[in-house]
Amino acid sequence: MKKINKIGLITGGGDCSGLNAVINGITKTAINKYGLEVIGYRRGYAGLYHNDFQVLDLKAVSGIMHEGGTILKSSNKDNLFNFPMLKEDGTYEYKDVSDVALENMKKEGVDALIVIGGDGTLTSARDFHRKGIPVIGVPKTIDNDLPATDVTFGYNTSLETITDALDKIHTTAYSHDRVMVVEVMGRNTGWLALEGGIAGSADIILIPEIPYDLNKVVEKIKERDRMGKSFAIVVVSEGARPKDGEVHVREIIKDSADTVRLGGVGDVVTRQLQALIHNHEVRYTNLAYIQRGGIASQFDRTIGLRFGVEALDLLMSGGTGKMVRCQGREITHVDLEEVVGSGVVGETSKGGAKYVDPNGQLVKAAKSIGISFGD
Ligand code: F6P
Repeated sequence: MKKINKIGLITGGGDCSGLNAVINGITKTAINKYGLEVIGYRRGYAGLYHNDFQVLDLKAVSGIMHEGGTILKSSNKDNLFNFPMLKEDGTYEYKDVSDVALENMKKEGVDALIVIGGDGTLTSARDFHRKGIPVIGVPKTIDNDLPATDVTFGYNTSLETITDALDKIHTTAYSHDRVMVVEVMGRNTGWLALEGGIAGSADIILIPEIPYDLNKVVEKIKERDRMGKSFAIVVVSEGARPKDGEVHVREIIKDSADTVRLGGVGDVVTRQLQALIHNHEVRYTNLAYIQRGGIASQFDRTIGLRFGVEALDLLMSGGTGKMVRCQGREITHVDLEEVVGSGVVGETSKGGAKYVDPNGQLVKAAKSIGISFGD
């Protein structure tokens, strides 16, 4: 492999807390340990296409460890292997423009990429590796749905946010005898709803892995009424679906490696519940992007930093086409080919996403303390 003197960083996909810790780890290790030059492409793969980048030196990454978001900005569109080109008639034609990215890298003398993102972003990273570019991926997602790693950074901070929000929502639920429906993210998996819901004392948790029956949800609320508990908290994962129905899709985005965007099922559940329940007001809160923002938790800072350092060491020892990952307490790595996939709902990676086990310990623990899954 050609000697690496200069690397380019990309942050793609939805932002989350811990991204800046990864950038910090990579940049400082690159400069201090290997004497490399580092640049960061702005706005995900769009930066690679437009050759829009900033130099990352020690000053640029100073003091960013705890900050949410990404100093490089991000995009969860701009799939350079299926990029929209505006035609004269105003419509779009989708083209593979990845060679433009390669030319831009050559022009700037960038020898390798470190790509930080979730399934969609890492799928493109795999495709650049296939084109012969040395690439290392770093797994990011608040959804915790990447199967090859025990944990991604961003998830922990989101759980803290959900738990805090549920604690706060409890006060209105109690004071007004309301049923409070709280929608959380997670794509096609229920990790955020499950772990956040348990910690935040939800009464009902609806997740994609356990299709729900609204009558069962009503039964649980009535059971609480009989116990003298005249309020309820219902946590709904954005990918939750009824036993006899489909996932609620918000939007299809063609120029993204993850084409399907979810969100809004909580509103539907709220209106349907209100039609069935006459002794409580049912109100809806969507935690939405609040779950992605804010100061990174200690866990996400540390794991993000470790991922960054290991990604660089892996690249400099000749690794390419790999993704760093966490196994137990160790950071190891795996081939990108093994972990990325199609971006299709219910099939977010080659081997499927990492789903909640409906018969696993977490669900069992929740059921043991009386939490209903509407099943
Ligand atoms: O994958 C991260 C995530 O935040 C999901 O939980 C959510 O479905 C999606 O991104 C939202 O994407 P967008 O920013 O396009 O609304």
